[in-house]
Amino acid sequence: MPRTGYKFDFLILGSGIAGLSYALSVARSGRVAIITKKDRAESNTNYAQGGIAAVMSKEDSFEMHVHDTLEAGAGLCRSDVVNAIIEEGPARVQELMDLGMKFSGRSEPSTDGSIELDLGREGGHSKRRILHAKDVTGREIESALLQAIARQPNIQIFENHFAIDLITSQKLGLTGSNRCLGVYVLDKPSGAVHTFEAPVVLLATGGCGKVYLFTTNPDIATGDGVAMAYRAGAAVANMEFIQFHPTCLFDRKAKSFLISEAVRGEGGVLQTFAGAEFMDEYHPLASLAPRDIVARAIDTEMKKSGSAHVWLDITSKPARFIMDRFPNIYETCKRYGIDICKEPIPVVPAAHYQCGGVQTTIDGETGIEGLYAVGEVACTGLHGANRLASNSLLEALVCAHRAAQHSLERSRVPLSIPLPSWESGTATDADEMVVVAHNWDEIRRLMWDYVGIVRTNKRLLRAQARIKNLQTEIQEYYWGFTVTSDLLELRNIATVAELIVESALQRPESRGLHYNLDYPKADPDWARRDTVLRRSPSS
Ligand code: FAD
Ligand code: SIN
Repeated sequence: MPRTGYKFDFLILGSGIAGLSYALSVARSGRVAIITKKDRAESNTNYAQGGIAAVMSKEDSFEMHVHDTLEAGAGLCRSDVVNAIIEEGPARVQELMDLGMKFSGRSEPSTDGSIELDLGREGGHSKRRILHAKDVTGREIESALLQAIARQPNIQIFENHFAIDLITSQKLGLTGSNRCLGVYVLDKPSGAVHTFEAPVVLLATGGCGKVYLFTTNPDIATGDGVAMAYRAGAAVANMEFIQFHPTCLFDRKAKSFLISEAVRGEGGVLQTFAGAEFMDEYHPLASLAPRDIVARAIDTEMKKSGSAHVWLDITSKPARFIMDRFPNIYETCKRYGIDICKEPIPVVPAAHYQCGGVQTTIDGETGIEGLYAVGEVACTGLHGANRLASNSLLEALVCAHRAAQHSLERSRVPLSIPLPSWESGTATDADEMVVVAHNWDEIRRLMWDYVGIVRTNKRLLRAQARIKNLQTEIQEYYWGFTVTSDLLELRNIATVAELIVESALQRPESRGLHYNLDYPKADPDWARRDTVLRRSPSS
């Protein structure tokens, strides 16, 4: 008889930078399970290119990094959180290097003991402060963390296991404050649903780029953590602030390939389809302006000319430099027939990063006891209305460490309630997978068309009505058929789409990444207001 119930001290959902860093910090204090829905390395982290922003040079300062973060965040950042994360960054980056992570630069310490790092520059940064491993920083970080995890006997990784829903005291009908007790998890190869119990559960499930038709994100980014937390009664904040990266490779055969902002940091310039530079008409920092401004400018230029893309040109740099600094971008573009040393790269904006998420403290606490959230799934207040480039890997590192310290105590609170097994009801196999596929496509296209870079109330209301209908259909499927990861992801992207639209409708202004033609200006009354959504216990 296959096993259906597991007990751990710490249960982590997700194996990107947030989940793995947290696991390493708590491993000495108890038994740890990491649940991850695909292969252990598959995550947004694994595709990060530009790097980690941290104050590591004498020419830089915490004040300057704080200033740039607040400036990009368009008035909505929490300054206490910004200060703490930026000040704790260098220590966490050092720990990563101690684990074996090698950033570009001189690997040997110089005579005074300092390490000379090759610091990159990206949009919105007033200084060079991005630690990177050429243009494959995420892959190197993920690999260093996984190697460290492999040395820890207390950590067990469950690959191809999909977290379906949180088990909470409220859902079980218990009185008192809402407490997270465990998670129902689909073992994808066998189709069995297991119950995982733990006094501490960490959501580290990443973002939701797949809610949009065009995205830089890999397939795992379906907003599962936000959807699960919302269903469990947690507060979800600022979901209207979806960051569109200005430069995703435009090629019908290339799926989601990012052209790093570091390319512009090293001298790449944006040009219209006709070959004219245009960014200095939009911002004094031209091609290195904050991302919201660049993405909107590209959108405007594409609409003006009716073109399908703009160009990013780095040919002014020597070929040797380009191939050494951006080997992955060079090779990938070459596979699609573009030699970036000799010709400009066709690029378009694409959904990239979720600035909002499950509302947490800087220590990762959600409003539900025992439930923590860290990384892209969380909204700590660092990013405000627009994330500064390369601040997300930094946030994940710092907050994972803090959440680990904070949750040690909680892991010792015993769970004395037996958890019920998963009820599959009258489930039968889904023979109409075409309906699931159709609804997936419909949500992603309507989010792109109606809830994209430039919004209007009319389009948002249209999206809201469509999503409502789709959700009714999805609910019938959910209760009627055996659960599969496709169906579960569909249910989650529908919930996240609903939250993005609802948040966008609740903010009667334009700020940072949320741009609504019906209210084209920022409203000072909304400068410090988060858009917070919470499901009522009865719904
Ligand atoms: P992820 O790394 O996305 O990990 C999420 C994990 O959760 C995955 O293992 C996934 O399989 C798992 N998961 C999700 N749902 C479930 C479920 N239901 N059940 C089980 N497991 C689940 N940021 C920077 O700061 N610098 C950069 O240079 C940079 N470059 C980027 C480039 C690209 C192409 C992309 C897409 C993003 C980039 N970002 C960058 C953003 C950054 O990579 C992410 O915000 C960050 O890696 C998120 O880390 P995370 O641990 O929160 O989530
Ligand atoms: C990039 O390399 O352009 C991505 C950086 C980020 O998203 O922070």
